Amino acid sequence: MKYRTLGSSGVEVSAIGLGCMGMSDFYGPADEAESIETLHHALAIGLNFLDTSDVYGRGHNEELIGRAIADRRDQAFIATKFGIAGAKLKPEGGLAMQVDGRPEYVKSACEKSLQRLGIECIDLYYQHRVDPNVPIEDTVGAMAELVAEGKVRFLGLSEASADPELIRRASAVHSIAALQSEYSLWTRDPEPEVIPVCKELNIAFVPYSPLGRGFLTGTITSTEGMGDRDFRKSNPRFQPGNIEHNLELTETIKRMAADKGCTAPQLALAWLLAQGEQILPIPGTRRIRNLDNNAGAVDVRLSDAELAEIEAVFSPDAVAGDRYA
Ligand SMILES: NC(=O)c1ccc[n+]([C@@H]2O[C@H](COP(=O)([O-])OP(=O)(O)OC[C@H]3O[C@@H](n4cnc5c(N)ncnc54)[C@H](OP(=O)(O)O)[C@@H]3O)[C@@H](O)[C@H]2O)c1
Repeated sequence: MKYRTLGSSGVEVSAIGLGCMGMSDFYGPADEAESIETLHHALAIGLNFLDTSDVYGRGHNEELIGRAIADRRDQAFIATKFGIAGAKLKPEGGLAMQVDGRPEYVKSACEKSLQRLGIECIDLYYQHRVDPNVPIEDTVGAMAELVAEGKVRFLGLSEASADPELIRRASAVHSIAALQSEYSLWTRDPEPEVIPVCKELNIAFVPYSPLGRGFLTGTITSTEGMGDRDFRKSNPRFQPGNIEHNLELTETIKRMAADKGCTAPQLALAWLLAQGEQILPIPGTRRIRNLDNNAGAVDVRLSDAELAEIEAVFSPDAVAGDRYA
């Protein structure tokens, strides 16, 4: 495994992390025993940057991770999140979310996460979504108190990308170690403004859904067979009318990966890793086989010519369909 520094924290974590969300929610049923084996395998190969949230499976995901790391806490770097007080898939597609960034909510959410994870201190605590009704200074102020109390080591923000000024305001209250937002070959939104601000402030950038919710692996050709609780079933990019166009893009990744002697997911992740030393993608998987495949991306080096070839196909507006309904 290769390691990268997590922004201003100065701590080294695996350059490829493990997104655990799908072990509880969003992408169809998961087998708990298999998920725990996958978590154990990740730690055994030194892939220690685990990503969860209190909202994934309404606490189930944190409990699962808590069980998996109970006898190996020191091997894991645990990132979790608070701030989505409720979320459900809307019948017409997309997610309905209630966000809460009030200081009292931050404190109580942290206590519950610590309990579910069965740990004394969270390594990285993110605000999952910015609450437009609470000044960011108040929310980050409460998060900073958690650091002072020894309940949290480092702070992060997630999807604070609509207004990069928010990142500056948050950083003025307490150093922010990481910012997590969607970023992949088919979601280039953070490039013009957010990533430069992160570089300037020494904030690690953690791309979520780095495999385009599985699409960029080249293994998904339609939503047929996906269950009703599968988020992708209503995601615009997976819908007829868009998916045909997007499948042409994945054909390019598959062809380029074959030429390079790597796999499509490795190519997609290697491209992200090549975007800067402060980038630490967290591909999600429930399976050891896919985890090993993804971890192999750290050994794939793309030349300038290969990067240019990929970017010529995946220009920022190449994808058809919005990223959320
Ligand atoms: N901050 C936020 O708002 C936010 C939002 C979404 C996600 N996240 C975090 O980011 C993490 C990653 O994002 P994500 O899970 O949404 O999407 P992703 O990593 O882009 O893709 C995950 C999907 O790809 C499949 N997959 C993974 N590796 C594969 C491989 N090598 N070959 C074939 N299929 C593969 C997985 O299926 P299998 O399980 O079958 O391998 C899963 O269905 C999440 O787990 C979560 O921790 C954060």
